[in-house]
Amino acid sequence: MSAVPYTVRNAEVVVIGSGLAGLTTALNLIHHHSPAAPVTLLTKTADLPGGSSPYAQGGIAAAIGPGDRPEDHAADTVSAGAGFVDAARAQVLAQEGAERVRALLDAGLPFDRDADGAPLLGREAAHGAARIVHAGGDATGRTLVAALADQVRAAPSIRVETNAFAVDLAVRGGRVCGVLARHPDGWVFHRTARVVLATGGIGAAFARTTNPAEATGDGLVLAARAGATLADVEFVQFHPTALAVDADPAPLLTEALRGAGALLLDRHGERFMAHEHPLAELAPRDVVARAIGARIAAGEPVYLDLRPALAAKPEGFPTVLALCAEHGLDPWTDPVPVAPAAHYHMGGVVTDLSGRTNVEGLWACGETACTGVHGANRLASNSLLEALVFGARVARDVAERSLPTLAPFALPQPPAIAGGAGAALLNAITADSRATLYQAAGLVRDGATLRSARQRLDRLAVALDRLRGDVGGGCAADAESVRRWGEARNRLLVGRLVVHAALARTESRGAHFRSDFPLEDPAAQRHRFTLNDLAGNAEATLEDAACSIL
Ligand code: FAD
Ligand code: SIN
Repeated sequence: MSAVPYTVRNAEVVVIGSGLAGLTTALNLIHHHSPAAPVTLLTKTADLPGGSSPYAQGGIAAAIGPGDRPEDHAADTVSAGAGFVDAARAQVLAQEGAERVRALLDAGLPFDRDADGAPLLGREAAHGAARIVHAGGDATGRTLVAALADQVRAAPSIRVETNAFAVDLAVRGGRVCGVLARHPDGWVFHRTARVVLATGGIGAAFARTTNPAEATGDGLVLAARAGATLADVEFVQFHPTALAVDADPAPLLTEALRGAGALLLDRHGERFMAHEHPLAELAPRDVVARAIGARIAAGEPVYLDLRPALAAKPEGFPTVLALCAEHGLDPWTDPVPVAPAAHYHMGGVVTDLSGRTNVEGLWACGETACTGVHGANRLASNSLLEALVFGARVARDVAERSLPTLAPFALPQPPAIAGGAGAALLNAITADSRATLYQAAGLVRDGATLRSARQRLDRLAVALDRLRGDVGGGCAADAESVRRWGEARNRLLVGRLVVHAALARTESRGAHFRSDFPLEDPAAQRHRFTLNDLAGNAEATLEDAACSIL
């Protein structure tokens, strides 16, 4: 078996992720770093940008309209979060968010504007004002990150490494000392005292999701394995209206459609949301998602009638129209079938206001972080905003924080992974873990199903472990096999973390609904935990795993 090269590169700071959070962090960092000490930006995607950011349709929430105030935006954020939002941080988000969006507008980013150049502001559920800035109609994320990616490519002091899969963080004496990554041409250890996780969400750990395939929660589990504290992990937001077609990811039909008048219809063609909530189609996202989910669980399809929205804004939804056309649907003539899908993770790696985690030298921002601004339910269009605000905050803190020089340490060994031979088992494990998580930790949860999912995921983790250690030389697997194995391992741990947290929350709140505890418990608190709290959960043996998977 031929050995794969292993090289060591020194870096001032490594940013992992090229979505909005990673691009924002890297661009803000270059104000503080010289070309002689470049920022390394790793992404597992083949090019910039990456992740969920280019998929974002609705827009960015910012209190910049006439009469709107950051205080009002913060109040809406707190109220959407079902009692668990840190109000002071929501104020920072809204205040600095408005400043950051104004700065992007002043810099000429191509947001949609009226004839006088003022931004056109849309309205989304649970926002008390029209405050959603968008670009290219419903192509906001794509337009925004394309512009930032161009700036990153042009910056001589950012070294971009694509197709670079971060496998693990190295931590010695409680301090980060580098990132072990599989690049196309071999293993690379990026020796650095400063790592920023901007790796996005966990949607692809669920069978049905709006997130792209790379949203496997890598940053969450890299941080967890490095000893970081996690919080709010049970809170997963399901988007109510993804197209009900056989596609992965499930194509999103933006909430802005309902903001512009689109209607939800039952199988008889009748509206039903007015009976569920006074705000009808614009009720909080979890309420709409459960109302739709309950009908689908009873075997009744649900449709979205886009025609009122398309009539109001004929140019406003090019992405949605293209997605419908791709699946042979014509929303100008007929309502289209919709169903909920896993969409956004409110929980993540606990950070302070500067994005610092409890592990020295490790920062997190964007969807992988838990800054406390989303609580149990994120307000629509607040996540792009969070990436902008906290990406900049992280950059400032990374630049200002002085850390002692790293002492010499033993380099980490790449994991031993089977190559092509394990592919069939890997695919089976991945499909099983995604289905298990969607079924147990979906819109409606209960203790018995969660416990059985915990056992199943533990068994799958043992089965996955069988793919290690069989390959002699240790690091010979090709880059694609390493990534598929790494993502499968990460999905499984994400699943176990979500199930652990969902079992611990014996109440219903925000996006977390337990049919066996349907009421909110006013005394309940947010949960923080580390990977150590999962120890002892592994109930499976190797033999069990082999029987149940193969
Ligand atoms: P991402 O954009 O997901 O980027 C993550 C990056 O990390 C990628 O480059 C990925 O390749 C990289 N990465 C991950 N793991 C590794 C690894 N192990 N090694 C190397 N690289 C790695 N939010 C809004 O505010 N408004 C909206 O309108 C909106 N619409 C949305 C529509 C859709 C369909 C989806 C899926 C989400 C939407 N969201 C929206 C949510 C929002 O897009 C995300 O929360 C946000 O973009 C996350 O940004 P991020 O930079 O944290 O992560
Ligand atoms: C949407 O456009 O409906 C998604 C907005 C969001 O997730 O913030």
